[in-house]
Amino acid sequence: MSDVLSITPVREALADFGTVMTETLDALLPYPTGPESGLFEAMRYSALASGKFLRPYLLCTSAIMFDVPGRQYLRAGAAVEMVHSYSLIHDDLPAMDDDNMRRGRPACHKAFDEATAILAGDALLTLSFEVLAGAETHPDAQVRSDLVAALAARSGGAGMVGGQVIDLASEHADVDADLIARLETMKTGALIAFSTAAGGLLGQAGGDVVKTLETFGFELGLAFQITDDLLDVEGDEDDLGKKVGKDAGAGKATFVSALGVDGARRRARQVTDRALSRLDTFGERADELRSAAEFVLARRS
Ligand code: IPE
Ligand code: IPE
Ligand code: MG
Ligand code: MG
Ligand code: MG
Repeated sequence: MSDVLSITPVREALADFGTVMTETLDALLPYPTGPESGLFEAMRYSALASGKFLRPYLLCTSAIMFDVPGRQYLRAGAAVEMVHSYSLIHDDLPAMDDDNMRRGRPACHKAFDEATAILAGDALLTLSFEVLAGAETHPDAQVRSDLVAALAARSGGAGMVGGQVIDLASEHADVDADLIARLETMKTGALIAFSTAAGGLLGQAGGDVVKTLETFGFELGLAFQITDDLLDVEGDEDDLGKKVGKDAGAGKATFVSALGVDGARRRARQVTDRALSRLDTFGERADELRSAAEFVLARRS
């Protein structure tokens, strides 16, 4: 692996970035006060827990290619992390994956209660749009509107939520690799596609460029979910901060269930290579995104 594609710098960059993103989220999330303070505590408990912050990292890395100012990309990054945190809170609920551990601590509905977890997810989702729509996110209202529309499209029924529906409907069912690719591209690829495309939107890079970044993100997101499927079999609970072995137990349709561990690993490499080919048009400017893609494949957490 060449220096530029070494993933050690990505790990280090993610650690530094995590500090900045935590501060950004801390400033944007409501301070717990008043009779609704339990809701705000639950939002902060989940969103400020030690996730990898990969989606905002990708958004910021993509925005830097277009010289977007830091205060703008950090707000947009915080918005996508809020949607991601909401998706995890709801994903862990008994009605969905029924998981008790998340990011190394009790899931939101265990630390609080189910109603609070549902509402904390709702409030994180809506706060993300408030943040994107805020004038500080970009001086041009059209850009803010495009960001809001893109995040809504990728998060909703044609994106993340739709993917979650197919994921749940596919439990204990005989589904082929094509449908699994579709469900994983939707449930996980869509938010990552928003993240990579948003850098181009903030930088007013033009429709073709945004589309290329979005395609890269959808494919990278699929590779990310295939590695999540692999880590559920091969990963370590302490590294991951969540239980392992839960997919087989729940009868989930994953790339591991469809292709086996070796087949899933080969598919993840193929999909990552396809994603990387989208970046050819950007030359060296996209080296940080290339390294992030290699990180996605090699990660253990
Ligand atoms: C977990 O996402 C859920 C999936 C889409 C596979 P991450 O692995 O990015 O979780 P955090 O944010 O680091 O906790
Ligand atoms: C989660 O996929 C995807 C979303 C939350 C949209 P998983 O159910 O595989 O994620 P983990 O393994 O619980 O983190
Ligand atoms: Mg799930
Ligand atoms: Mg889950
Ligand atoms: Mg999983």
